Amino acid sequence: MKNILFVASEVMPFVKTGGLADVVGSLPKCIDRKYFDCRVILPMYSFMNQKWKDMLEYKTHFYMDFNWNSYYVGVMECELDGVHFYFIDNQDFFTCDKPYAGMPYDIGRFAFFSKAALSILPSIEFRPDIIHCHDWQTGLIPVYLNDAFQANEFYRGIKTIMTIHNLKFQGVWDVKTMKDIVGLPDYYFTPDKLEFNRDANMLKGGLVYANAITTVSKTYAEEIKMPYYGEGLDGLMRARQNDLRGIVNGIDYEDWDPKKDPLIAVNYDSDDFKAKKVKNKTALQEELGLNVDPDAMLIGIVSRLTDQKGFDLIAYVMDELCQDAVQFVILGTGEERYENMFRHFEWKYGGRVSAQIFYNEALAHKIYAASDAFLMPSQFEPCGLSQLISLRYGSLPIVRETGGLKDTVEPYNEYEGTGTGFSFTNYNAHEMMGTVRYAEKIFYDDREEWDKMVKRAMDADFSWEASALQYQELYDWLIG
Ligand code: ADP
Ligand code: GLC
Repeated sequence: MKNILFVASEVMPFVKTGGLADVVGSLPKCIDRKYFDCRVILPMYSFMNQKWKDMLEYKTHFYMDFNWNSYYVGVMECELDGVHFYFIDNQDFFTCDKPYAGMPYDIGRFAFFSKAALSILPSIEFRPDIIHCHDWQTGLIPVYLNDAFQANEFYRGIKTIMTIHNLKFQGVWDVKTMKDIVGLPDYYFTPDKLEFNRDANMLKGGLVYANAITTVSKTYAEEIKMPYYGEGLDGLMRARQNDLRGIVNGIDYEDWDPKKDPLIAVNYDSDDFKAKKVKNKTALQEELGLNVDPDAMLIGIVSRLTDQKGFDLIAYVMDELCQDAVQFVILGTGEERYENMFRHFEWKYGGRVSAQIFYNEALAHKIYAASDAFLMPSQFEPCGLSQLISLRYGSLPIVRETGGLKDTVEPYNEYEGTGTGFSFTNYNAHEMMGTVRYAEKIFYDDREEWDKMVKRAMDADFSWEASALQYQELYDWLIG
């Protein structure tokens, strides 16, 4: 039996702001239990739903040196779907109303979290063969492991993987403050290690010291070796290209299943969607105050509202698109300028645009089930789960060909009768609009072709099965 430890700042179903939580929540369940014992460590945030807090049991506590102090480290635990979860409890760092509080506060919290995640291992009696770290919040784990922890026999020989879910977020702050907080010697703060444009960079530490690096699609693994997508780390990505691989994300086929989903109005599958899916549309139109019209093409968006997701393109041509016979439903939160933009369009095109500016799991399910198409014109997209969910729910993705969007959405080819969605190449508003209008044309003028595409989309396989095998291969190869 090989031991794999996942460490991340958000994990479904306990806490989620985006796709990272979905991945760390679902992948460990899909790794073969005959060969691997997968466990997960995450922070015990005070805002976590009481339902989950009630499930946790106290395991142990101790005090740990950090930032010139001695801090309480509590360990709570629970088991869910056969996976063991450990929660790091410390009220100074994790009393909050959302997982991220902004810089520089997050530097201290996640440096503490990373050091604590390593420190609890002997007391929970779990010695991982591999620590699988996710995003910048856990970037210091490979660095700490390489440093003082080597003095203890227990830690020697543990391998690490750093998975990049989003290279844009790196945990950067000035060297002096960072050095003080994280407590690593000067040795680490040079340009070949944590130093980055004269500042210090936590993710970079992980990318330098991890034994292997992965990211969440093949195309993104190539893109980040280039300056446009590399966020200043493309040189490092090129230097480590032999240790870097892209493994595309899957989605949880239990949670996301239109045939059984209890959150949607009418269940359907790839054989009976023609008659049934539309009932989800009219139910949602009614619920949100859109004009109830089963024949209108409904375009959905469920997203963090950040510039990554291509909202500048939408801002540019939304007025023009709203001249067409389409409806839009947007669910998301994030940057104020985008929140207000969608509120504005709802006000301007009442009955045809609905802007739901908040976070809501149940409404997300309803939108995937109700919409005919799903718009995701991202500027960059490491993988993207929303388009995978929309494929499964027969809402055809309209995407920009970047990262995981390129790898998972096959563009419609009207001559060969293939494809599962629509895509365009350049980050250009009119190119996007042309593609949306092409989709409208197929929807209204060639419904038979559209429906065939919906069936192909729903039948495509984006479960974890194939990707979990690739992770297992990587684990085996690293352990040797
Ligand atoms: P990212 O991780 O960059 O935000 P992904 O496409 O990988 O993008 O994952 C986004 C996940 O978050 C999807 O499961 C999507 O349904 C969900 N999501 C995003 N915004 C909301 C929201 N406002 N309410 C509910 N779910 C949301
Ligand atoms: C990040 C990326 C997204 C990816 C998710 C899970 O949030 O923005 O593309 O799907 O992580 O890997």
